[in-house]
Amino acid sequence: MLAEIQQTAQWIKERVAVLPRTAIVLGTGLGRLAAEIEVEQEFPYADIPHFPVSTVEGHSGRLLFGRLGGKEIMALEGRFHYYEGYDMKQVTFPVRVMYELGIRTLFVSNAAGGVNPDFEIGDLMLIRDHINFLPEHPLRGKNFPTGPRFPDMHEAYDHALLEMARTIAREKGIRVVEGVYLATQGPTYETPAEYKMYRTFGADAVGMSTVPEVIVAHHCGIRVFGVSVITDLGVEGRIVEVSHEEVQRAANEVQPLMADIFREMIRRID
Ligand code: HPA
Repeated sequence: MLAEIQQTAQWIKERVAVLPRTAIVLGTGLGRLAAEIEVEQEFPYADIPHFPVSTVEGHSGRLLFGRLGGKEIMALEGRFHYYEGYDMKQVTFPVRVMYELGIRTLFVSNAAGGVNPDFEIGDLMLIRDHINFLPEHPLRGKNFPTGPRFPDMHEAYDHALLEMARTIAREKGIRVVEGVYLATQGPTYETPAEYKMYRTFGADAVGMSTVPEVIVAHHCGIRVFGVSVITDLGVEGRIVEVSHEEVQRAANEVQPLMADIFREMIRRID
């Protein structure tokens, strides 16, 4: 595993001029942020040695290198989900490779169902914390030397980055909400009873991704900032049928606002 990570990182290093310190993972329907990036180089996942290949509609599967907010960044357009059949080693492989390439700050985004009754469809939720409800832990197995065997998780989402996002949202007049993201394995969306249970657990939003990458990034000492786009509501009395197309449509609409926040944060990060 370590050898594969190093081989993949080496392959990339041989092909890119600059190694950025910041990376972005673009979630479902959020690939349009890629259009905001001044892309200098791109690698389809299929061309990268040992990289899994993305299978879901709405994920084109490219690793991008370019500039956003005046800084060099890399971006994963399309991620690997547990529900697709990948194991957690595969799901988190790109994060390990990016760490090997020198990433020290990671921006993650996803589409999620809101279970907080104060949320609206189209809200941007700054992820303050998460609940890992996935059936396999990404750090299961021999410990990686990037971090301790029993990692502390009290600040998985960097408080300073959260505060920066709040400030930028306020300055730009963008409505943001905050909350706890709960990751389920999917691929089913939730039944009304399940949404209710997750709310009782303390979740504000429910989705099928992000948490594995965040855990691995945190174990590597990478600072993490995450945003969920609320694409549907799992709130009693307001639950309607959810489809992947609907999720993508709702995600599409708020992308420019999310891009605005990401771009400005990247500009301000040292
Ligand atoms: N549940 C789980 N995953 C999701 C949802 C949802 O309601 N919406 C977007 N991704």
